[in-house]
Amino acid sequence: MTQTVGIIGAGLVGCLAALAFAEKGFEVSLFELRDDPRKVDPGNLRSINLAVSDRGIRALKYVDNDMAERVLKHVIPMYGRMIHDTTGTKQQSQKYGLFGEGINSIDRSFLNKCLLDEIDKSSIKVYYKHRLIEVAGLKGSSPTVVFSTDENKRATFDFDYLVGADGAHSQFRYQMQKSMRMNISQDYIDMQYLELSIPPSKDQESPFSIDAHHLHIWPRKNFMLIALPNENGSFTVTFFSPWSVMEQLKNESEFLQFFKSNFPDAYDLIGEDSLKHAFHHHPRGSLMQVEVYPYHDPSGRAILIGDAAHSMVPFYGQGMNCGFEDVRVLMELVDKHGADAFKLYSPSRRDDLRTICKLALDNYYEMSSKVVSKKYLLRKKIDGILGKLAHGTWWIPLYTMISFRGDINYSDAVAREKRQSRVLKGIEVGFYTGAILAAAKALHWWKNK
Ligand SMILES: Cc1cc2nc3c(=O)[nH]c(=O)nc-3n(C[C@H](O)[C@H](O)[C@H](O)COP(=O)(O)OP(=O)(O)OC[C@H]3O[C@@H](n4cnc5c(N)ncnc54)[C@H](O)[C@@H]3O)c2cc1C
Ligand SMILES: *[C@@H]1O[C@H](CO)[C@@H](O)[C@H](O)[C@H]1NC(C)=O
Ligand SMILES: *[C@@H]1O[C@H](CO)[C@@H](O)[C@H](O)[C@H]1NC(C)=O
Ligand SMILES: *[C@@H]1O[C@H](CO)[C@@H](O)[C@H](O)[C@H]1NC(C)=O
Ligand SMILES: *[C@@H]1O[C@H](CO)[C@@H](O)[C@H](O)[C@H]1NC(C)=O
Repeated sequence: MTQTVGIIGAGLVGCLAALAFAEKGFEVSLFELRDDPRKVDPGNLRSINLAVSDRGIRALKYVDNDMAERVLKHVIPMYGRMIHDTTGTKQQSQKYGLFGEGINSIDRSFLNKCLLDEIDKSSIKVYYKHRLIEVAGLKGSSPTVVFSTDENKRATFDFDYLVGADGAHSQFRYQMQKSMRMNISQDYIDMQYLELSIPPSKDQESPFSIDAHHLHIWPRKNFMLIALPNENGSFTVTFFSPWSVMEQLKNESEFLQFFKSNFPDAYDLIGEDSLKHAFHHHPRGSLMQVEVYPYHDPSGRAILIGDAAHSMVPFYGQGMNCGFEDVRVLMELVDKHGADAFKLYSPSRRDDLRTICKLALDNYYEMSSKVVSKKYLLRKKIDGILGKLAHGTWWIPLYTMISFRGDINYSDAVAREKRQSRVLKGIEVGFYTGAILAAAKALHWWKNK
């Protein structure tokens, strides 16, 4: 008999999970609180741009290679960071990869719509305007989910398996932890974000007013601005700062003055009217970190994936990529172990999820301050030289492992980085010439280790 799966949440991760289970022959139902986003005006949805990288792409391809190609047709590759200085006149490119690799910019709601188009072509049943309110029967043989629909009616369904992909404020998680011993931590990070945008340029030559193939950063230590390109030539801009910085800007003119003095070139690109509008009308987003353990219930029939299981700060660009990887890891276990998959998933995923949540937090400091430090740049240079020499074998920079080498798991990446960083510290003692000699030595030692 065909086994049934109910997936809660038709965000990015829930959609990919639905496609993956359908591909394996399960009968899949997908439930979403909101209406079909392709039908409604996306008005109040935040236009967050995501960077899709190797782990995400790998997972999409694992589910369906052709689907992955269709979905990723509209991404814009970014090959490095473009650092904007405080005078607004100088830009400096810092490449991400050693061999021309890039991460890919795409609008989150656009990607979500592409995945829903794929779902429409499959046998998956989608229920919009269904808000999960209760999960019951986890101790019995078939768990039950209860929804409230838009007519304020209750709708009840039974499934063999349940997957909770309902995001950082997961109701599914709340329901699950009532009947089991689940550890949960939730931390609001002292950081807010404000969405802004740079309009397409009126120039005939190119619709992009700054380089399209970079992730632009205005690092200012305590706070920063970043910009990611869109297909139509606009850039989605995000201002990150501690809450206190934003709260000190009491009125419009103080806000404008702050922008003008800290980000003079961005000020002109975004435009004064647009900044004024954002100050008065755009919401301030908060950033939260959620960690959970275990991810499955004791009967092995329900599981949490994506942001519902691990909400991380966006500074390594891994939230969705990691959620997509969850789907791949889970499906590989389903292939190998059938009904035991959910129980095996938690212990096998734990270290990797903890590792990436921590890395994401640490990377704020790197993006907002370290990218302009001489010491960091020197270290990065040596790291790059060794990485190039090794050509993806005995020495790989951390950023490369996380973003371009989905075959290396997060915890292994950090373990390797620890070893590499010990060697780098040794090398740093000398300066350029000295460093090269030392590098040769270190290389020799490393190879014969
Ligand atoms: C500013 C910012 C920048 C980011 N940049 C990146 C990046 O560059 N790269 C990257 O990989 N990630 C990035 N992320 C993270 C990424 O957005 C998330 O990791 C990803 O969207 C998580 O997907 P999800 O499907 O798990 O959850 P969500 O996208 O939150 O989807 C959850 C879905 O469940 C539905 N739902 C909620 N409650 C219920 C309910 N009770 N009943 C039914 N349905 C429900 C919601 O309506 C929603 O559709 C960024 C995040 C932010 C905030
Ligand atoms: C939950 O946290 C406590 C305290 O840190 C720990 O002792 C316990 O083993 C954890 N439980 C699980 C299931 O991880
Ligand atoms: C360009 O695309 C972005 C992201 O998809 C969208 O938010 C914006 O409204 C578009 N801008 C214009 C001028 O079309
Ligand atoms: C904004 O606030 C500052 C300091 O509180 C004040 O001096 C200034 O007059 C205010 N400007 C406007 C336009 O209200
Ligand atoms: C991560 O990779 C290392 C090295 O290949 C391996 O030993 C470890 O088992 C992997 N962890 C998981 C959870 O797959």
